[in-house]
Amino acid sequence: MKLKLGLKSRSRYTNADRTKDIFPMAPKLPIYFDHAATTPCDPRVVEAMLPYFTEQFGNPGSRNHRFGWEAEGAVDEARQRVADLIGADEKEIIFTSGATESNNLALRGAAQMYEKAPAGSKGRGHIIASTIEHKAVLDPCKRLQKEGFDVTFIEPPADGVVTAEMVKSVLREDTILVSLMWANNEIGTINEIPQIGALCRDRGIVVHTDGTQWVGKMPVAVKRDNIDLMSFSGHKIYGPKGVGGLYVRRKPRVRLVSMQDGGGQERGFRSGTLNVTGIVGLGKACEIAKAEMERDGERLLKLRRKLETQLTTQLDSCAINGHREKRLPHLTNVSFGFVEGESLMMAIKDIACSSGSACTSASLEPSYVLKGCGVGDDLAHSSLRLSLGKWTSEEQVDYAIAQIVTNVRKLRELSPLYDMHKEGIDLSKVQWAAH
Ligand SMILES: Cc1ncc(COP(=O)(O)O)c(C=O)c1O
Repeated sequence: MKLKLGLKSRSRYTNADRTKDIFPMAPKLPIYFDHAATTPCDPRVVEAMLPYFTEQFGNPGSRNHRFGWEAEGAVDEARQRVADLIGADEKEIIFTSGATESNNLALRGAAQMYEKAPAGSKGRGHIIASTIEHKAVLDPCKRLQKEGFDVTFIEPPADGVVTAEMVKSVLREDTILVSLMWANNEIGTINEIPQIGALCRDRGIVVHTDGTQWVGKMPVAVKRDNIDLMSFSGHKIYGPKGVGGLYVRRKPRVRLVSMQDGGGQERGFRSGTLNVTGIVGLGKACEIAKAEMERDGERLLKLRRKLETQLTTQLDSCAINGHREKRLPHLTNVSFGFVEGESLMMAIKDIACSSGSACTSASLEPSYVLKGCGVGDDLAHSSLRLSLGKWTSEEQVDYAIAQIVTNVRKLRELSPLYDMHKEGIDLSKVQWAAH
C-alpha cells in the first residue's frame, strides 16, 4: 500500500514550492512586471494575424490577382485602425519595423530635408532633444551632430518633466527640429508635448515625439496636440514585435528624406515588402487599445497607487522617481536606500521587472535616465521599474509588495550603513578611513 504524504519528497521540492510555503497565496510565478519593455500579444491580435501567414499570404504590391488585393485590403484596414487611434488621416501613417526605425527615419529624414547647409559643411541646423530620451533618439542625434548639425540636449529637473518653457529657452533662429518623447520609458514621466508643439508650430519648427510608451495607453489627437511626426511600436501595446509606425503630418505637409530606397512602398518613405501579418496585428492592437485603454488605465492607476503607497509606508528610505502626478498610470520607478541593487534583483527573481542598472559590455552602469534626473549612482543601482499591464491582477501586486518589502528588510539587516542611518548618523558627513 502506498502512503500518501502531505509533503513532497525533498528532491521534488522546487523554488516555487518554497515560495508557496513562505507566501501561501502566491499567484503563478514568475510574475511579469515589465510591460514597458514589451507586452504579451493579445490573443485577439494573434487570431486576426493567423490567416495572413497561410491562406491570405499575398504581397500587397501584387496588383494583378486576388492574393495581392486581399493583402492590400488588410493593410488598408490596419492603416485606418492605427489612424483612428491617434486622430490622423490614414495617408499619414507609414509602417516600419518598430519605433527604433521610426525614430531614425523621423530624425535623420527631417534633419536632411530641412537642413540649412549642405552635407559636408557645418551649421546645417539646430536640433533640440533631451538627455533622457531613448537610445533610439539619442544615438541618431549624436550621429547628426557628427554630420554637422548642432544638438541641444535639455537636462530635465529632478521630476524628469520637460516643459514648453525649457524648450523655449533653448530655441534658436536656426532650430529646425525638436524631438522629445511623450512619456519616458524608465520613469513614466510625461512631457508637455501639446504645448511644445504649439510653441514650435508658431515658428515653423518640425516637432517629433517618440510616442512608444504613450500611444495605445493614453489619448492622442495628433492635430489637436500639434504633432508633426510621431513614432510608435506594436509590441508595447499588446501587438506583435518587429512592427511599428511613424505618423507624418500632411497639412501643413511635413517632408522627409527616406532612409531606405527600393520598391517605393509607403509612398516612397519606406521601401520594402510590407510585413502584412505584423501590420494586421498592429491594426488590431490599435483597435483594441482605442476601446479599452481608458478602462485599463483607470484600473492600473489604482493598482500602481496601491503598490507605491504600500512600499513607501512599509519601508523607510524608499523614494518614487519622477514627477508624482505627471506620470503614466501603469509604471513606477522606486529606489530603495541601503540595498545593493544586484542582491535585490536576485532576491526577488520571481518578479520580472527592470533594474536601474544597464548592462554594458564590461560593467553595470547606473541608468542614464535616473542619473539625468539627479539620482545618485547608489540609488540608481538599487531602483526597480515595475510596469503593470492589462492582465496584472491585484493578487499579483499584493504578492510583489510582500516580496519586495520582505527582501528589502532582509537585505538591510545585513547592512552596517543602514544600522548607522537608524542610529541617526548622517552618512554624508562620515569621514571614511581608507585601509
Ligand atoms: C521610448 C522608446 N522608444 C523607442 C523604443 C524602441 O522601440 P522598438 O523596440 O519598437 O524599436 C522603445 C522600446 O524600448 C522605447 O521605450
